[in-house]
Amino acid sequence: MQFNFTEEQLAVKEAAREFAQSELLPGVIERDKNMIHATEQIKAMGELGFMGMMVSPEYGGGGMDTLSYVLAMEEISKIDNSVSVAMSVNNSLVCWGLEKFGTEEQKQKYLTKLCTGEWIGAFCLSEPEAGSDATSQRTTAVDMGDHYLLNGTKNWITNGGSSSVHLVMAQTDVEKGHRGINCLIVDTDWEGVTIGAKEDKLGIRSSDTHTIMYSDVKVPKSNRIGEDGFGFKFAMKVLSGGRIGIAAQALGIAAGALELSQKYAKEREAFGKPIHKHQAIGFKLADMATAVEAAQLLVYRAAQLKDKGENFDMAASQAKLFASDVAMRHTVEAVQIHGGYGYVKEYHVERLMRDAKITQIYEGTSEIQKLVIARSILNGQLYEQLLF
Ligand code: CAA
Repeated sequence: MQFNFTEEQLAVKEAAREFAQSELLPGVIERDKNMIHATEQIKAMGELGFMGMMVSPEYGGGGMDTLSYVLAMEEISKIDNSVSVAMSVNNSLVCWGLEKFGTEEQKQKYLTKLCTGEWIGAFCLSEPEAGSDATSQRTTAVDMGDHYLLNGTKNWITNGGSSSVHLVMAQTDVEKGHRGINCLIVDTDWEGVTIGAKEDKLGIRSSDTHTIMYSDVKVPKSNRIGEDGFGFKFAMKVLSGGRIGIAAQALGIAAGALELSQKYAKEREAFGKPIHKHQAIGFKLADMATAVEAAQLLVYRAAQLKDKGENFDMAASQAKLFASDVAMRHTVEAVQIHGGYGYVKEYHVERLMRDAKITQIYEGTSEIQKLVIARSILNGQLYEQLLF
């Protein structure tokens, strides 16, 4: 593909590929089957610099661009999506949000540990009755003068059980609607924070997804991100970046399924020749390769727009919408190419197929991405983007 990567970007991609092959591939089937969190592997990724890739070195981060992060996400996601979602949430929702909108004190206290794998972060927006409709926050942060009193329940929280820090969206002033929402930084060892049971999921089974309860948690005012009432806009801005990470995850799933399918189609013989020489299989591989490259263009473009400091909301949604559909469609095809072998765990494609589904759901469902894209078009972004 004609994309001019720098030597540094290619080195990051190679390092991520090597780590995924040597440290994540062994044991990935077992972890998925038994819902075992990859605690040690994620810690090692922190030490290698994969958990705070875009954060400036001043706070212990890698000082890399979004494109490098996306290339690393793609490689890790070819192998273990329970790990890559932990990486995505920590890098793009928690670390990026803290560095861009946090105070110096917040950055010194939290970022330095979040970048190195010593701590991991979670992003707590979704609630039992606030998924796609994220403005309907029921969690409350009552203003008590020098602190907020936090009460409520958050659902489907990635890194929920393993995190030391939560970014929690909560309603302070109901009268103001979404303009009354704040984002509070909560240490998980504070009194009143309870981690609920781990979810038993279709895919990304070893990722650490929990319900979290907050009961009269005292959060100092100094732990609010931004001005009073900035919480919802903070969540939206951060989620646009997060969607590039999940788009890269979906791309990695599709590209991983393609790599496995090509290999299998060359090795497996039927009717006296390798199956890729049968048009039925060759055409499937052709469709997969074309879709994966098209997804790459959208994902890399969204990352580049972010790196250039341009508006990337629509591009991020387009990348996630397209790449997650490619991942879903083509992992089903990868299982089909593998036939009976594809249906058993040993060949990895059934896991990728199960993992693909969540990329159409979290960090905004495909329907929400279409809503964001449609609104952006009406706001006049399309013409500008076609000029790219
Ligand atoms: N940047 C800045 N501000 C934004 C914004 C953005 N990208 N998008 C919206 N806003 C602002 C709007 O300008 C508006 O503010 P004003 O009224 O002051 O102008 C405010 O936010 C509300 O926006 P809308 O009126 O558009 O609100 P809405 O309710 O109609 O729609 C939505 C908002 C886009 C549907 C939003 O609710 C949404 O994105 N929903 C999906 C939620 C989501 O992605 N959840 C993911 C959970 S996290 C997760 O999955 C992580 C994980 O663990 C893997």
